[in-house]
Amino acid sequence: MLTIDLTNKVIVVTGGGTGLGRVMTEHFIRCGAQVVICGRRETVLRETAQALGPAVHAYSCDVREWESVDNLLSRVVKDLGRLDAIVNNAAGNFLAASETLSSRAFRAVVDIVLMGTFHMSRWAGAYWIENRQPGHILNIVTTYTDTGCAFVLPSASAKAGVQALTLSLAYEWAPYGIRVNAIAPGPFPTEGAWSRLMPGRDFEEQYKKRLPTQRYGRPEELGALAAFLLSDLAPYLTGAIIPIDGAERLQGAMFNYLAQITDRDTLKAAFAALKAATRKE
Ligand code: HXC
Ligand code: NAP
Repeated sequence: MLTIDLTNKVIVVTGGGTGLGRVMTEHFIRCGAQVVICGRRETVLRETAQALGPAVHAYSCDVREWESVDNLLSRVVKDLGRLDAIVNNAAGNFLAASETLSSRAFRAVVDIVLMGTFHMSRWAGAYWIENRQPGHILNIVTTYTDTGCAFVLPSASAKAGVQALTLSLAYEWAPYGIRVNAIAPGPFPTEGAWSRLMPGRDFEEQYKKRLPTQRYGRPEELGALAAFLLSDLAPYLTGAIIPIDGAERLQGAMFNYLAQITDRDTLKAAFAALKAATRKE
């Protein structure tokens, strides 16, 4: 049987106290890892660490600040004796008409998402290179990094930057045995995301009907993918941006709208009529 083994690995998950970060943490410890969760709110982190058990270590850190990241990762190495992987999951996002955004509002998201990911990756990469040991950076982006996205301009801009950082570092640090990948989730209902991005229950139902799978992602599905990526089962996998979205991102492809006609016989009849009409004499 193939098993995901993360025994003795020390993994740092930013924003690990809530949502998808917490679920990834649960998966990592089930595979044997020690996980450091960090974020700004100490009570949230403490509650999560208590709920998940002794393999989870709560450290407060604000990823926007280099000093805070330097302090966190120095302490992790000192307290736990090693550092194997970083999961850059911390993020900020909200819905807004772009013409109303203040400079501080744009910066609030970019600082967490892009600067935070840079700070963590910069520290860990230098540490692994100096100590001649392999490492892994896993970034959590979104499916709109290639297309952009209306009403979430700061997030779309920052996540596109994180995607570029992922691809750049994957190549630059490959000779040192450092893998750099990203997961691009579609919609996963979490308190943090839904409270800021779902304008109401009706909207949530309407949105779901639009999804080709007719359902939202389940956090444990993302947790399993993250655990696999960090494991020794994927040593050649680097520089990858992996969507997990039930194919939602493909909606714009020209004829995909036809899939919304769920009665197959209606579709087949329409295609047959076209064929008959275009057949050569
Ligand atoms: C417009 C807003 C705003 C909003 C804040 N601001 N919220 N502007 N619409 N909803 C503006 C403020 O007015 C202020 O500008 C500036 O942003 C900074 O605000 P603060 O409240 O001081 O910011 P801060 O405390 O740093 O909080 C950052 C945050 C907050 C991003 C605004 O929401 C946060 O902490 N979020 C963390 C968790 C989170 O967002 N999770 C969702 C991730 S989900 P002025 O000019 O007035 O001073 C995700 C999913 C993607 O990313 C894809 C889904 C399918
Ligand atoms: P979430 O629960 O709100 O997670 C965000 C986390 O980031 C929180 O734990 C928050 O903790 C932390 N954080 C924010 N600012 C920070 C800072 N300055 N320093 C350290 N930590 C900080 O939302 P989620 O849905 O689980 O999102 C997790 C990741 O998935 C994000 O990268 C998000 O963009 C991505 N994603 C989610 C979805 C979805 O549908 N849920 C879709 C696509 C991508 P504190 O506030 O305590 O600091």
